[in-house]
Amino acid sequence: MYNNPMFYRDKDNHFVLKTGEKPYKILQLTDLHFGFGILSKKQDKLAAAAVTKLVKETKPDLIILTGDSIFPYILKAGTRNNIKQAKKLVEFMDSFKVPYAYLFGNHDIEMGSKGDKNQIADIIIEGKYSIFAKGDRSLTGLGNYIIKLHNYQDQLLMALVILDSNMYRDGWYYSGFDCIREEQTAWCMKELSKLKKQNLDLKALAFFHMPLPEFKEAYEKMKLGDKSVKYNFGSIGESNDYFGISKYKPNFFEKAIENGIIKGIFCGHDHLNTLSLTYRGIMMTYGMSIDFLGYSNISKKYTQRGGTLITVNNDVSFSVDPVPLTTVVSNFVRGQNK
Ligand SMILES: [Fe+2]
Ligand SMILES: [Fe+2]
Repeated sequence: MYNNPMFYRDKDNHFVLKTGEKPYKILQLTDLHFGFGILSKKQDKLAAAAVTKLVKETKPDLIILTGDSIFPYILKAGTRNNIKQAKKLVEFMDSFKVPYAYLFGNHDIEMGSKGDKNQIADIIIEGKYSIFAKGDRSLTGLGNYIIKLHNYQDQLLMALVILDSNMYRDGWYYSGFDCIREEQTAWCMKELSKLKKQNLDLKALAFFHMPLPEFKEAYEKMKLGDKSVKYNFGSIGESNDYFGISKYKPNFFEKAIENGIIKGIFCGHDHLNTLSLTYRGIMMTYGMSIDFLGYSNISKKYTQRGGTLITVNNDVSFSVDPVPLTTVVSNFVRGQNK
């Protein structure tokens, strides 16, 4: 676990990171898909070089890995050993000497992989710069936790909510994607409401792997010319305007609207989607992905690859910028409404 005078755990078991006087920079990296196996050597090298370049260029204060960081899929990686993969991931991330928060995607624990979530979590927690908590064990998923950003006077500025959006419902891959469950949502909103007593203007950003159905809803509305949806940047690069959402509708977005504290949501999962929209007051952003291994032939693609930089200012305003590894960013979206 990260050990630094600017970092501690408070009495409510939330993490606290103290920011300096300069704007605070969070680099979202998603879908690294490290294989660390016999079949993935070339792709792993490319992924490591991409992450290294992004970290060096952006010099973040905090990195958030939004899932599918490791990929124990034997046909692509040549290994099911996600214990070894998690150890290698931690060693790699620690090399930057920048704190990093981790959350589970749907692939970190692949069907038939060696380690379960609990075992992988134990390895992540051991990282010298890692920030991770298993969270309330009565909730679905592992790794539902909150990082509070405090200013240098130790006053609460902003909350970062980290959630496990789970994997597959009832029986792995063939049952389709799971989603954030209602009790996870209830826990999140309750904790945010409690934190609001420390700062009446509290804003929060939420990070999880899988997109919400409302992201797709907003996109469809925008394509039909709905001016209430604000286009920020990026595109839907998946074929047939695909969003990898669950058929079970989570209540997270509706509850976030009611609660009013969450202003930004960051996900990954659909590697070719880089879209960012603002819908009903919440900015929803697909992080640019790193993947060289998961999607076949993705190493030849370049419009999706990079990171996403979130800059939090002292007045708690925040800005979000895609950081592509090349200069090419696709902004082609039908019905785009700037
Ligand atoms: Fe992925
Ligand atoms: Fe995924």
